[in-house]
Parts: sequence; structure tokens; C-alpha cells
Amino acid sequence: MSSARGMPAPGVLRDLVRLARGARRRAHAPYSGYRVGAALRTRRGEIVTGCNVENASYGLTLCAERVAVFKAVSEGLRRFDAVAVVVDSKHLAAPCGPCRQILWEFCGDIWVHMENLGGRSRTVRLGELLPMPFDGKNL
Ligand code: THU
Repeated sequence: MSSARGMPAPGVLRDLVRLARGARRRAHAPYSGYRVGAALRTRRGEIVTGCNVENASYGLTLCAERVAVFKAVSEGLRRFDAVAVVVDSKHLAAPCGPCRQILWEFCGDIWVHMENLGGRSRTVRLGELLPMPFDGKNL
């Protein structure tokens, strides 16, 4: 279990990474060849996965993180505490700018665990990736 603010337990991260790796294999990435898997966890322990889904009209592509968030929200899930993002690259994939914004909207300052297939990883809070966010409090 993870506490509200503490880093998720190793077993929790292991589960998230395993599911994100599985989702990554389902990526539709014929244009970039860059396959991404994500796994988003609610505070109650439910896990929803996502993969990037590309389109011939490149700008319509959806990132793995946003697919996971929208799947979860559309299933009625809220109150998230961690997301894992897995790629097959030496460089870990930090969520892109639009994904950071979407993650912030629905998840707030969650843990973001980035890992590659070689097992290299880094875990940070979303607030580190998106300091001074724009959100509903601004409106
Ligand atoms: N992509 C993601 O799915 N997540 C990220 O955090 C970065 C980028 C996808 C979008 C596109 O399909 C491919 O990776 C290359 O940009």
C-alpha cells in the first residue's frame, strides 16, 4: 500500500510496471515505432492501463498516459496516486507537456514512475515535472 504522500511500495511499482509493459506491447505506433505503455493506479488499488495510439494524421495521436487517464475517468474512477510509464529506450520517458497537464487535472500531485525495459527507473512527483500548474483553482 502507498500512503497519501509517501512513495508507492516496491510491490505496487512492480505491479504497475508489469501492467505498463503489457500495455506497451499493444501500442499502435506504426509511424514513430516508439511504443509506450502506462499504468495508472487509484488510491484504492485499481489499475488502468494505456498505450500510445498513433494516427496517419500525426497530430491526432494519443499518448499512453492520456489514454490511461481517459479510460479510467470514463469508467468512473477518480483519486489516483501513481502512474508508471514504460518505454524501450535508454532514455526514460517523462510525460510530454500536454500529458502533464491532463495528469494534473485528474490526478494532482501523483507519483510518476518512469522505467525502461532494462529496468532503469526514476520516480518523481508530478509537481516536479509541472511546477506552477494552471488548473481549476485559477478559474
Ligand atoms: N508518447 C507517449 O505515448 N507518451 C509520452 O510520454 C511521450 C510520447 C508517444 C506519442 C507518439 O506515439 C510517440 O510516443 C512518439 O512521440
